[in-house]
Amino acid sequence: MLDVAVCVITGGAGNLACQLTWRLASQFNRVVLFDVAPAPIGEVSGNAVFERGDLLDAAQLEGLFKRHRPTTVIHLASLLSGSCEQDRPRAWQVNMDGSFALFEAVLRHGKPQILFASTVAAFGGKLPEVLTDDTPQWPDGLYGVTKMAVERLGIYYQRKHGLDFRCLRLPITISRHAPAGAASALASHAFIEAARGGEFTFRARPDTKLALIYIRDVLHAITGLLDRPVKHLTQRVYNISGMTVTPRQIADAIQRRVVAARLKFETDDAVADLLASWPGVIDDRAARRDWDWKPEFDLERTADDFLSSLKSEEANAKP
Ligand SMILES: NC(=O)c1ccc[n+]([C@@H]2O[C@H](COP(=O)([O-])OP(=O)(O)OC[C@H]3O[C@@H](n4cnc5c(N)ncnc54)[C@H](O)[C@@H]3O)[C@@H](O)[C@H]2O)c1
Repeated sequence: MLDVAVCVITGGAGNLACQLTWRLASQFNRVVLFDVAPAPIGEVSGNAVFERGDLLDAAQLEGLFKRHRPTTVIHLASLLSGSCEQDRPRAWQVNMDGSFALFEAVLRHGKPQILFASTVAAFGGKLPEVLTDDTPQWPDGLYGVTKMAVERLGIYYQRKHGLDFRCLRLPITISRHAPAGAASALASHAFIEAARGGEFTFRARPDTKLALIYIRDVLHAITGLLDRPVKHLTQRVYNISGMTVTPRQIADAIQRRVVAARLKFETDDAVADLLASWPGVIDDRAARRDWDWKPEFDLERTADDFLSSLKSEEANAKP
């Protein structure tokens, strides 16, 4: 650990950021969560501080860097896929202008290491059976377009201006705070509803292959890539893979553990087609080779871990 190691997380109030604070607690003296939202979505570690602010406000961004002098920046602020289509101007501002402003701030303030969370939605069109790092990127949605562009922008700043830019392309994450209503959150919400005794309807086709990853593996990947000495990195943008499973397998894994779970399948063609258009199998050989990436959670381990943490949360919430 450096004398004073400070990590700034943009999008710091969100799903991944809050859970990441616990993982970063032993590596950083302070974790600063910077977000336009009024408060973090979940519990955060004791050394995390929340600062409300907008990436698009130049004075607030400058103040953030001056006050905290980050040694690492993790860039998670973003509009997600649905919101990007609903509000294209805002999506462009946050995902593109916001990222540009952040790279410039990093350049002005001592070039702290910067890690960016991209997505498999940065790919699109007709995808091969197995998605590789080199698969041509022709994203279908504005979300993927902006994410792909920021990947390229990061490489530009790394090559031309010496930034220590690193980037992960995340698959759909199974997580406690997955966005309500998003097609991508089907696995998360099936687990969440089963744990609270509710019911869940899968709108996907039962046999569609989905590339998913459990939140604990995402957190492990972020710290793994951050920690790896730069000399080992043969590239700066990495695919990572967690598991390839079908909705039917997810439902079965839940039902075996929560016998009373009420899970149904009612295919909605629009949702099912969208899910079927996403990659099912991801090749993450470069991540495994360069920084020893290896997921720890397959579907069975995810189901055990996620259901038990959701159930203990439910039990604690009860008066
Ligand atoms: N969760 C997933 O399945 C997944 C998959 C692939 C990639 N990602 C990427 O990981 C990152 C984090 O995802 P998440 O699930 O935590 O999403 P999230 O929506 O919970 O978090 C994003 C945060 O960004 C904040 N934000 C938006 N505009 C901002 C602005 N102008 N200034 C400051 N903050 C702003 C939002 O308020 C929100 O809290 C995102 O960049 C997302 O694209 C997530």
